Amino acid sequence: MKLSAMQGSKILATGSFVPDSTLSNNQISKIVETSDEWIVARTGIKERRLLIGNKQSVVDLATAASLNALNKISMNPLEVDLIILATSSPNDLFGSASQVQAKIKAFNAVAFDLTAACSGFVLGIVTASQFLKNGSYRTILVIGADVLSKWINWSDRNTCILFGDGAGATILQSCKPQDNQILGFQLNTDGRYWDHLSLSYKKNIDPHPLLNIYQGSFNYIAMNGKEVYKFAVSQVPLNILKCLQSLNITINEIDWLLLHQANERILLAVAEKLSISTNKILVNVNKYGNTSAASIPLALDEAVHDGKISSNDIIVISGFGAGLTWGTVIIQWKC
Ligand code: COA
Repeated sequence: MKLSAMQGSKILATGSFVPDSTLSNNQISKIVETSDEWIVARTGIKERRLLIGNKQSVVDLATAASLNALNKISMNPLEVDLIILATSSPNDLFGSASQVQAKIKAFNAVAFDLTAACSGFVLGIVTASQFLKNGSYRTILVIGADVLSKWINWSDRNTCILFGDGAGATILQSCKPQDNQILGFQLNTDGRYWDHLSLSYKKNIDPHPLLNIYQGSFNYIAMNGKEVYKFAVSQVPLNILKCLQSLNITINEIDWLLLHQANERILLAVAEKLSISTNKILVNVNKYGNTSAASIPLALDEAVHDGKISSNDIIVISGFGAGLTWGTVIIQWKC
């Protein structure tokens, strides 16, 4: 449905889903040389959920999170005009969003994947809000879902302690400008440092004998943890400040800081740099680890479910990760 230009965007519902299977730090310590004490001290992570077996994929997690959100507001999936699936672990490189569209029976929706690693959900929300604002679409489902367990080298203790699987979903709808909840955003990429965190193409040793084309598969996740840590604690606060300044919002007006759940130390360091009190940080990295594009919508859904967020609360949401790409979107919650 084509609406008049310059609409607002509001969040109608959130949903989430995580696999049942839990992997504790002690269990990881039987696979690689590490310990529960080390992982908790350096990351705050105690356990994570993993999608085990070969029957389910990221599509199933994304579907369950989406149905969870739709059911909360008894929305008919046919009302959804667009589905944006933020994921870096699709089960089809041509895109997995269309499979989610079919599974939730949102047959009126166009669907596409958005790849921006751990910033994917923030970029998804910003992308959706543009379509809503200019009147192209009325109702958009934004999903963040990842199963990075499939791409981890389970012998690499630098990375295998960090990640978990999950999905979160948010339903956005256009609204009158005075009801707008997406106040503003600030996005950045610095591709010079892409190799600090990558899941890159692995070409075969030999090319096709006649065509000189190198075919292949993908490597495991590779990460320079120290550099990623330094990047996050230096760039994320600057990005948030820039976004706040553009909206004339002060630090004191922030009710909640919802950062990508990468590492509790990063969350605390960013909050400290911004002089935001620790009781305003939304944290669940201890239970789920870093679920990449899923981490922010998962934590948002949990906070809404727990009744933490009240009407008119200002929530600063920041994602950061591979790319390197990072970004902030500031929302004002309306119940
Ligand atoms: N268990 C036990 N010891 C470990 C270990 C593990 N899993 N990983 C590394 N170590 C050891 C190292 O070998 C090193 O030992 P040494 O001092 O004898 O050489 C020591 O612990 C410190 O290693 P270091 O790599 O300096 O640890 P760190 O404090 O930087 O923590 C990370 C490592 C990965 C937890 C941290 O760098 C980090 O969180 N980075 C950001 C990662 C991230 O968030 N990525 C996703 C962004 S979207």
